[in-house]
Amino acid sequence: MEALAPLSAQYAQAITSSAPSDDPAVALSEHLLGELEACDGLLISTPMHNFAVPAALKLWIDYVLRKGRSFAVKPDGKVGLLRDRPVLVLVRSGSPCVGDAARQPDFLTPYLLHALSVMGIHNVQFVYLPGLSPTTEALAQTRHALISFLVPSRLTGDRP
Ligand SMILES: Cc1cc2nc3c(=O)[nH]c(=O)nc-3n(C[C@H](O)[C@H](O)[C@H](O)COP(=O)(O)O)c2cc1C
Repeated sequence: MEALAPLSAQYAQAITSSAPSDDPAVALSEHLLGELEACDGLLISTPMHNFAVPAALKLWIDYVLRKGRSFAVKPDGKVGLLRDRPVLVLVRSGSPCVGDAARQPDFLTPYLLHALSVMGIHNVQFVYLPGLSPTTEALAQTRHALISFLVPSRLTGDRP
């Protein structure tokens, strides 16, 4: 897939005003939102960059996390407008970013959880793959998470 265009001032203005816009970036945002609305599950495979999500993933979030489209603003706060669905996030990092072995902060996990929850998506699972060669345990965990994400009925025994 082509890299997403950086956000422009016109786009920022278009999504914060109620007037209709023919800005191509708004059309791109609608396209990405359409993909998100249509999917039954979302697989995010991402590196950690400087303790957080990489710029490319942040840009995708900036295109889909939109007032009036994926969330509404109510007196008590923001309310998600998208249907909940399973999300599997595979996180690659140079060294551990969660657990006892972590020697760095992890802003990626809470940020992504919050961004998705604002849109109404809460069913999120993370698998972490740190280091040059992920451990056998991490790979087994990834395999298990991928199978249950792709074929949920295999684990619940619904299917032979
Ligand atoms: C700009 C940049 C920032 C990075 N920041 C971190 C970081 O904060 N923590 C970390 O553990 N690894 C960091 N890394 C390492 C990457 O997460 C790691 O190299 C990458 O996930 C390896 O993925 P790959 O082997 O699938 O290409 C960074 C890498 C780059 C290029």
